[in-house]
Amino acid sequence: MNPETAESPFIRACRRLPVPHTPVWYMRQAGRSLPEYRAVRADVPMLTACATPDLIVEITMQPVRRYGVDAAIFFSDIVVPLKAIGIDLDIKPGVGPVVAAPVRDAAGAAALRPLEPGDVPYVTEAMRALVKELGPTPLIGFAGAPFTLASYLIEGGPSKNHDHTKAMMYGEPALWHALMERLTDLTVAYLRLQVDAGASAVQLFDSWVGAVAPADYREFVLPYTGRIFAALADLDVPRIHFGVGTGELLGLLGEAGADVVGVDWRVPLDEAARRVGPGKALQGNLDPAILLAPWEAVEGRAADILARGRAAEGHVFNLGHGVLPSTDPAQLARLTDYVHETSAS
Ligand code: CP3
Repeated sequence: MNPETAESPFIRACRRLPVPHTPVWYMRQAGRSLPEYRAVRADVPMLTACATPDLIVEITMQPVRRYGVDAAIFFSDIVVPLKAIGIDLDIKPGVGPVVAAPVRDAAGAAALRPLEPGDVPYVTEAMRALVKELGPTPLIGFAGAPFTLASYLIEGGPSKNHDHTKAMMYGEPALWHALMERLTDLTVAYLRLQVDAGASAVQLFDSWVGAVAPADYREFVLPYTGRIFAALADLDVPRIHFGVGTGELLGLLGEAGADVVGVDWRVPLDEAARRVGPGKALQGNLDPAILLAPWEAVEGRAADILARGRAAEGHVFNLGHGVLPSTDPAQLARLTDYVHETSAS
């Protein structure tokens, strides 16, 4: 990592070092809330955009230019590496990832072959270009975590109750573990490739793992998230672990080994710090829906989050989940300035 990037507020906060101001970025900062995003995506399907380096660079840069956030997140999607190894899937507007042949048996799991750098040349190319364009601003690479990827693969699309996923987890544990092993290998390879290409931090999105009870997380998920973070330890980049609805899992998410635990809006950060335990930074956790209310409502909540964030050994300000498409970009611009100014004083 370039030495200036290593000294950036975002990387320093992830490493629990003193910072001049609390760093801030937003999950889904690049996307449908931005008119300039909608303009470049107008005639381009999502997965085509994710495979086009010029577009990846442009969309990744849009929120950095507009808001002056402390980190860029690579424009892509968690299903991109699955598509790259030959899984027939698409991202349907307003729906999300849809898999043509849901994975429900050993043959389906065996079809998940290892990922090689040659499978995602557009990722490597776009990351190299971005690192140059971003200068000292850190670039966050990311991947979906095995549980969340498994849910899309097993259900065949987005799911409220994760019925088939849980049926496999509880009913066919050997098949479950075989599938999770393969997704773990894929995720490790994909994140290492991104760091090789210049990512200065990585975030593992286990968005839907909040559906799992703690004892089941320990048995069916922790072995894999634990292996992923261990396999990245030598890279010397901050590793962030995020999920939604994970209040009861925060201690286990910390145990999995990340440097930073992402917290959704349901648990105040001081309580999250207690649950996660020492030796971790926290990221979060403004309810993204608050940004749909007038600024006066946002300001008080943001102040509260900054205050509670001081209970953590390091704090990266973020939302508790992704930016909602109807968010007014002016709110995020104001919030970014507010976090910078308030935390610096
Ligand atoms: O700005 C960023 O955060 C980077 C880009 C990013 C996208 N997807 C772009 C995207 C990231 C980090 C993701 C990760 C992702 N994808 C997750 C984990 C994060 C989370 O929100 O929990 C998940 C669960 C997915 C799966 C997925 N892909 C969903 C649920 C959707 C939304 C479906 C919809 O249209 O409502 C997608 C599509 C997607 N990924 C879009 C974007 C900008 C919208 C597609 C479009 O603009 O047409």
